[in-house]
Amino acid sequence: ATLLKTNKCLETTLALLKPDLFADHQTLCNIEQRIAHLFRISARRKVIWTTGDAQRFYAEHQGKPFYPRLISYMTSGPILALALTKHGAIQEWREMIGSTRPAQMRIERPTTLRAQFGLTDTRNSFHGSDSVASAERELEFFFGKKLPNQLH
Ligand code: TYD
Ligand code: MG
Repeated sequence: ATLLKTNKCLETTLALLKPDLFADHQTLCNIEQRIAHLFRISARRKVIWTTGDAQRFYAEHQGKPFYPRLISYMTSGPILALALTKHGAIQEWREMIGSTRPAQMRIERPTTLRAQFGLTDTRNSFHGSDSVASAERELEFFFGKKLPNQLH
């Protein structure tokens, strides 16, 4: 017998359920249930961002053509932030949501969350951290001090 379950690292990633999903409470609940089936939800917080919050979180995109509409979308209603913990969580969550453009996902990867719920390239319903460094920064942004399994 071996104690090794998988060679992937135990990780915590940041998932965001973006404001358009709050239009339908049942849909939001169903999505969170789907997530809870595959990941441990280590922390959970509903927030409403100020413009300053959105600008700080998305600072890397400042100056890009879509930045103003991204900031106005992300401040248009509540956001649900989830810390998702699992071996290989960062990559698995990014794969589950699909890439940025919902219309492209509906053609290429129709089972992804963005294919199923995303509205436009900006109003794409989900966020996922893209690296260990991003996850650490983004989890700190929402949840303050680092989560225990995020410490090295
Ligand atoms: P990005 O980090 O490139 O995408 P992802 O969320 O898939 O990691 O961009 C951040 C957000 O900015 C993206 O989720 C939606 C918005 N955005 C647009 O509105 N238009 C675009 O062309 C891009 C690239 C992003
Ligand atoms: Mg990104």
